[in-house]
Amino acid sequence: MLRCSGLKKNTVSLQKLLLMVNELEIKKAARIIQQGGLVAFPTETVYGLGADAFNPQAVARIFEVKERPSFDPLIVHVASMDTLPLLTENIDKRVYELADKFWPGPLTIVLPKSKHVPDIVTSGLPTVGIRMPDHPVALELIRYAGCPIAAPSANKFGKISPTSACHVRKQLTEVTCVLDGGNTSIGIESTVITLNPDGFVILRQGYITKNDLEAILPQSEQELSKEIKLASPGLLKSHYSPDKPFFISGNCDFPFDKSKAGFLSFSLKDVKGYKIVEYLSDNSDLKQAAVNLFGAMHRLEDAEIDFIVAEPLPEHGIGIAIMDRLNKAAYKSGRLMTMIGSEKSDCTKKHG
Ligand code: TXA
Ligand code: MG
Repeated sequence: MLRCSGLKKNTVSLQKLLLMVNELEIKKAARIIQQGGLVAFPTETVYGLGADAFNPQAVARIFEVKERPSFDPLIVHVASMDTLPLLTENIDKRVYELADKFWPGPLTIVLPKSKHVPDIVTSGLPTVGIRMPDHPVALELIRYAGCPIAAPSANKFGKISPTSACHVRKQLTEVTCVLDGGNTSIGIESTVITLNPDGFVILRQGYITKNDLEAILPQSEQELSKEIKLASPGLLKSHYSPDKPFFISGNCDFPFDKSKAGFLSFSLKDVKGYKIVEYLSDNSDLKQAAVNLFGAMHRLEDAEIDFIVAEPLPEHGIGIAIMDRLNKAAYKSGRLMTMIGSEKSDCTKKHG
């Protein structure tokens, strides 16, 4: 299927998107949201699995379908600044400056939650993550539903994020309403930030970089302190994991048979020896690599190979967010190799 494969440049035009998902489909989906059901929908970052943010039973279904632990809070999506006072209180003026520059767009701002937001949305935290997605289908869906939409990425918990409707259907077979807006145009999730009196803290790296934020805000980025880490239960070491061992090249110094492996290339051209190679960019462009990242990971997950090796990317600009995804995808396999390695050295100690 064309939409599931291939190296892709960037944005799909607005008219083309609205042709893919017609008004009637969006209205039907909005009705499902109003009736307490779930809808998977495209955003500019990844597909979301949405429910009425004010309906605790509907939100509980999101956690069930995703198999997501209840400690990991959801982002609430809005289509207008007018909704903000319903979700949060004492709005900091920096929120308006950020919204002016980055909304609609891939920035989530964690703010004090109002009493109207059910605890299940925020996993009992006193804060709520809010973002206005930059996608006509997402915005229309929120408008027709007439409520803010709570939505995590539309994948099983800990698995590869979805950048197409095919990816959603692959993992969330029980979701019957999937609005198909084609491939997403940015390809990685929003940057999640929180504000404090001294500046801002990045809770999740994403498309909007520290430099982008520092150009707008008067104060600079603050360190992710222990206290903030405790208040951000979504900061997990393992995530985005394919159903196959996944390594970052350089961290897999064991002898392996390349012909049984897949390779995820960023800058290397004409890679030889691997059974399958996915090229993230044709000119080492980080934004293009972000667009193609999860699609390539899904194809490697589905390919007949034993494991996947990824080339590390330069850690500047959006490369920081991409490497965050690769490191988390490689976390479990890396730990396993360390365990095997230490078992081997234990054996050497005992018997050697
Ligand atoms: O681009 C995106 O952000 C996508 C699209 C669908 O909008 N959504 C997304 O949602 O990636 P999810 O649930 O997969 O990731 C949301 C992240 C999690 O790490 C969660 O812990 C964090 O945002 N988060 C949400 N609310 C929070 C809060 N009140 N405090 C701290 N972290 C929060
Ligand atoms: Mg996610």
